[in-house]
Amino acid sequence: MDYHLKTDAPDRVPSDCLVLGCYEERKWPTTLGALEERLADSIVKLAKRDHFEGKVGETLLINPLDGVEGARCERLLLLGLGKREALDIAKIRKGLVAAVKALRDSKAKNAALWLPELSIGERVLDARATVRLAVEIIESGTYRFARLKKEADDKPVRLGAVTFVIEKAHKAAAERGVREGEAIAYGMRLARDLANLPGNVCTPTYLGTEAAKLMGDHPALKVEVLDETQLEALRMGAFLSVAKGSRQPPRLIIMEYHGGPAKAKPVVLIGKGLTFDAGGISLKPAANMDEMKYDMCGGASVIGVLAAVEKLQLPLNVIGLVPASENLPDGNANKPGDVVESMAGLTIEILNTDAEGRLLLCDALTYAKRYNPAAVIDIATLTGACIVALGRHPSGLMGNHDALCEALLQAGERCWDRVWRLPLWDEYQEQLKSNFADLANIGGPDGGAITAGCFLSRFAKDFPWAHVDIAGTAWKTGQDKGATGRPVPLLMQYLIEGVA
Ligand code: BES
Ligand code: MN
Ligand code: ZN
Repeated sequence: MDYHLKTDAPDRVPSDCLVLGCYEERKWPTTLGALEERLADSIVKLAKRDHFEGKVGETLLINPLDGVEGARCERLLLLGLGKREALDIAKIRKGLVAAVKALRDSKAKNAALWLPELSIGERVLDARATVRLAVEIIESGTYRFARLKKEADDKPVRLGAVTFVIEKAHKAAAERGVREGEAIAYGMRLARDLANLPGNVCTPTYLGTEAAKLMGDHPALKVEVLDETQLEALRMGAFLSVAKGSRQPPRLIIMEYHGGPAKAKPVVLIGKGLTFDAGGISLKPAANMDEMKYDMCGGASVIGVLAAVEKLQLPLNVIGLVPASENLPDGNANKPGDVVESMAGLTIEILNTDAEGRLLLCDALTYAKRYNPAAVIDIATLTGACIVALGRHPSGLMGNHDALCEALLQAGERCWDRVWRLPLWDEYQEQLKSNFADLANIGGPDGGAITAGCFLSRFAKDFPWAHVDIAGTAWKTGQDKGATGRPVPLLMQYLIEGVA
């Protein structure tokens, strides 16, 4: 997609389709004040004819612009933003999602976008953040995963260029917003593509190769991929115990980006990279098991974020760690009751082989210590219990550092890739007691998302740490099955504006 910025009146911007953001009720025609009067009058008439009210996400395509002379646009899309006083980030997002859908259906090849937020300065978000969000939504809304289809897509995306109509004073901010939005969208696309690939294509080895390939386009990224022998030398016994039940060898992907002062402590991002999770000997039920190809979404988001951070040349040091493995039943797989020794030296009784993510992550957390990190954030499709607790709107957030958790909460609010915090109280730690090892890998049926977080916390004592459980947010199930690219926006928002 090409993006342009114009400071002209909206009806002077030539386009296949002009999108006009409108508030609800009698107020909305006033947002047409930027238009020539004759034009505004005709539009108001057409909108009345078709009972357009301006409710959030409501759209009206006027196609062609019958009787409206003098407009430089071929079509007009009225976009409802709801009541002016009630406008918030959620409504801007909802409106933009609806606009992108209507634009795709309209067959317009290019569009001009006029929003009160950008054009007459009514700010819930500043121009930079609005444009950033819009670009992210436009790119997400036009994303297709057709790599494995031999027959052509019946709904090709025609939209190829978008012009933001903005106030002069906000040109520089909007330019920055475009650049950031494009980088975030790029990271999301990378993450979604990797995640949507099936387990027989996207193996730990494939994930490692793809991550290493990024060095070609991203000279400031250093990627190293450790193999099984190297993991043995590191004594990553918990991680390796999961991998030994699979014919695919494990990988630890290490991505380094040094854009900040050499002495600045890095942010370490750790992403769960289970390229397929069948549960192991504690085998999962068959229904929807295909979706466990998405158990590497945390890892994919970390790879996407590192690439996006490099693209933006952020003045930070960021490390990405992705432990990658399969979890399958096999003669050599972990058995319930097995005791393994983690890299940290703590022994773990594996009471359920399907609680495998934490076994990879605990060794990656121990590895993270060598970077003397400012903060460590792990991202994982860790527990079905997190979906039970929170549903599929926010990701679960846990951590040992209030300021870090607060920064992530706020970053999520701003880009609308939200998280909700769950407690990691000591009382819950009791549930992880084992008769035979230092701790058990499951904590029973109560508070499963939290006890998973508690397990990880035992390996994260030496640095500020947060855990983001993306089990409910990383992909959509059902008819629109597919990876969402979350929480790339959250992490980028945090890295761009929120690192305290
Ligand atoms: N990858 C799954 C968690 C998951 C399940 C994410 C469904 C999204 C949808 C994880 O490895 C797992 O199997 N967790 C178990 C833990 C349990 C055995 C304590 C779970 O959630 O059932
Ligand atoms: Mn599992
Ligand atoms: Zn898993």
